[in-house]
Amino acid sequence: MKLMSETKENPQVFAVFGNPVKHSLSPLMHNAAYREMGLHAVYIPFCVKNLTEAVSGIRGLPISGVSVTIPFKTGVMDLLDEVDEDARKIGAVNTIRNDAGKLTGFNTDWTGLALSLAGVMEIAGKRFAVLGAGGAARAAVFALLKKKGNVTILNRTRDRGEKLAREFGCEFRPLVEANEIRADCLINTTSVGMAPHEGASPFGPFKPGDFRWVVDIIYNPLKTKLLADAEAAGCSILNGLDMFVLQGAEQIRLWTGKEPPEDVMRNVVLGALGGGHPVPGPGR
Ligand code: ATR
Repeated sequence: MKLMSETKENPQVFAVFGNPVKHSLSPLMHNAAYREMGLHAVYIPFCVKNLTEAVSGIRGLPISGVSVTIPFKTGVMDLLDEVDEDARKIGAVNTIRNDAGKLTGFNTDWTGLALSLAGVMEIAGKRFAVLGAGGAARAAVFALLKKKGNVTILNRTRDRGEKLAREFGCEFRPLVEANEIRADCLINTTSVGMAPHEGASPFGPFKPGDFRWVVDIIYNPLKTKLLADAEAAGCSILNGLDMFVLQGAEQIRLWTGKEPPEDVMRNVVLGALGGGHPVPGPGR
């Protein structure tokens, strides 16, 4: 893949489009990666007011690659020249690559989730309960089915959950029946419990033995109430830190064709979250 020349005068420009974006840790994580990789590149946050004009700007400026975040992951799809098959099935694009003016959309959220889970457990043949039916749930369900897991969707609102289950050909249970669910792994894809609402949890109380693993896609706080409750009930837990890092690492692969320094990325994010000492990634 031919990207812009990396001369001193012309750094390669990458960006994140969102609204709001001021709390995004992506600029910190990507810029740390580029520094470590010796790339002459910068990654800039843009709080987008008009998505159509912003996407034109990718071509016009030009910007080599863009991360797309809330609330644009679905709306951006119609503005691109091509959307890869996985992203189309998920119905969301979180990554745009600019190949000499041709904009292609990808989804690396599902890859981040699949890689993070695969670092701690076997997915194939295991039973997963996915809590939520929004965009994040779609990426999670796609990832689990692609890796041959069995999925039950749990959602507060029946209609929305049933619709998602029908589309992906999996089972649905209303969240109020959650205490009847047994699975190898529960994955929270809702934002319930995210800072600044650390006291909230979408699920509970846990009964020991219901789930071997409980996973939260949230990484701020690093240990949500859901994960703390699950741990207290004897479950193994996994937070969303690695999913976040690995979706970003996959973006760098798509944009540069080069291998990103995942440990550097993880540690800079962990530092920003007040997570204490640098840690090596699980299983990598
Ligand atoms: P995203 O695209 O980030 O996943 P979303 O589309 O707003 O966000 O979806 C949010 C999900 O979180 C939904 O499944 C929502 O459940 P409903 O369909 O019933 O609205 C779920 N959710 C939000 N707040 C919740 C809460 N307090 N308890 C349980 N589920 C909740």
